[in-house]
Amino acid sequence: MQLQGKVVAITGAFGALGSAVVRAVLAEGAQVAAIDRASAPHAPLEGAALFGDVDLSSDTGARAAVDAIVARFGRLDALVNIAGGFRWETVADGSLATWNAMFEANLRTAVGACHAALPHLPGDTGRIVNIGANGAMKAGAGMGAYAASKSGVARLTEALAEELKDRGITVNALLPSIIDTAANRKDMPTADFGTWVRPEQLADVIVFLLSAKSSAITGALLPVTGRV
Ligand SMILES: NC(=O)c1ccc[n+]([C@@H]2O[C@H](COP(=O)([O-])OP(=O)(O)OC[C@H]3O[C@@H](n4cnc5c(N)ncnc54)[C@H](OP(=O)(O)O)[C@@H]3O)[C@@H](O)[C@H]2O)c1
Repeated sequence: MQLQGKVVAITGAFGALGSAVVRAVLAEGAQVAAIDRASAPHAPLEGAALFGDVDLSSDTGARAAVDAIVARFGRLDALVNIAGGFRWETVADGSLATWNAMFEANLRTAVGACHAALPHLPGDTGRIVNIGANGAMKAGAGMGAYAASKSGVARLTEALAEELKDRGITVNALLPSIIDTAANRKDMPTADFGTWVRPEQLADVIVFLLSAKSSAITGALLPVTGRV
């Protein structure tokens, strides 16, 4: 039980990766606050406290959710920012609104949740884990808005890690490739699913980054890409 006694807030918790992370963090003995924009999870998340109908890209959404979590549990030890979205669109045929939408879904949600959580995270043991994207390291055609927003998550991770070094709070990001989700299998039916990284494999790395064993790692951008 690596996370016994901890309270961990997880955003995007009702989604494919988020649900797997909620289960993995619960299994390590933590209390979990599961935050999402949806009203309820698609599959049961037994044992987690559910905070649905939260729009983390709004000015007040993240703060209200964090305040409710602290009121319920009396503390907040860690934040995992998983909320996000994806849009494939070329610049020539696309819309400028897509750039705003990607920045709101991927970067604004993470910044807003960090900003709300920071006053509560304990010095020396506090943890933030963000989800970037390996595909943001060099964007392909149609990936501009998404990759730019996930590059923003990488820069947020670096800046916040430096900012919090003296408080001993670590800030790291995972950079997944294609995750083996139902949505990706539907979108790419002829792909070799066995090469994709599974949500449970990403969750294992997140548990490590939340645990005491990772106390010397901060500001890391960690590719977790399966065999892609
Ligand atoms: N799937 C991949 O192959 C892949 C690869 C690299 C990185 N990632 C990243 O990994 C993370 C999880 O991916 P996933 O496949 O698990 O996605 P997912 O199933 O769509 O889950 C993401 C969740 O975040 C929620 N969300 C989005 N915007 C929000 C907001 N403003 N406030 C609160 N909740 C919000 C979504 O709600 P709605 O359903 O209402 O939008 C959804 O429940 C994302 O950050 C994604 O960019 C995914």
